[in-house]
Amino acid sequence: MTVYLNGKFLALEDAKISVLDRGFIYGDGVYELVPVYHRQPYRLAQHLARLRRSLEGIRLANPHPDARWEAIIRELIARQPFEHQGVYFQVTRGVAKRDHTFPAGVPPTVFMMSNPLATPSAEQVERGVAVVTAADERWLHCDWKTISLVGNVLARQLAADHGAVETVMFRDGYLTEASASNVLIVKRGTIIAPPKDNLILPGITYDATWDLARDAGLPFELRPVTKDEALGADEMWLSSSTKEVLAVTTLDGKPFAAGRPGPMFRRMYALFQASKPKARSAVSSADA
Ligand SMILES: Cc1ncc(COP(=O)(O)O)c(C=O)c1O
Repeated sequence: MTVYLNGKFLALEDAKISVLDRGFIYGDGVYELVPVYHRQPYRLAQHLARLRRSLEGIRLANPHPDARWEAIIRELIARQPFEHQGVYFQVTRGVAKRDHTFPAGVPPTVFMMSNPLATPSAEQVERGVAVVTAADERWLHCDWKTISLVGNVLARQLAADHGAVETVMFRDGYLTEASASNVLIVKRGTIIAPPKDNLILPGITYDATWDLARDAGLPFELRPVTKDEALGADEMWLSSSTKEVLAVTTLDGKPFAAGRPGPMFRRMYALFQASKPKARSAVSSADA
């Protein structure tokens, strides 16, 4: 597998960083994950905009203009043998003697790899998935995509311990998000999701669902969602770059709502599938 580290494309086993890297010592860095369909990144501009916001949040200079990021990402994609990929990239505050304050004059560490994209199985799409619920115990800047993910790791492990795919979290009586996905609900035909604030990651897939809902004329509201409202919803969905859109059909070990993916989910799932980049030959024959 070919990865990218600080300006070079290398075999994974040759990519090495110092144990003093601040990513390793402090989790002092940010990251992105861009889904790639038929070797074409999905909503890359939006991922790069979110990266800029995360870097600003942690006060780390962006090492590259967007055009350079895009060139590296496209080259990495071209170097992989598979069509559908998940490009992961992270920037840390570099290597320095251990000290909490920012080091002066230290270049950031930039690492990038691309794995086969693991989208949900047909069974998960057809039957929906199980989630558990928990209190959101993370910090107050969940809007920055930082590599300090221990709160999300613990939440995700709780789900795994219960044979579920995600943990849906609540803070002060309101829905926030899941450990690695956004959460949307449907009530009486309206899609409702918590607004973008400091308590959730502004998901690129979540943004895609609004755009798709708006274009299809589906009612959509962004507003705080109480725990009672979430638990009493007609449908609940997860959204992320690797889960795409998935229906929740089991919650805390019991069937959720109708116990099967609802009609609004089926509509959104179809819209989302249609919005994904197509194989290049399919694009040109459709255009012809
Ligand atoms: C905590 C969290 N929320 C939401 C998301 C969904 O974001 P996106 O749709 O950009 O993948 C992720 C994705 O990794 C995440 O980690």
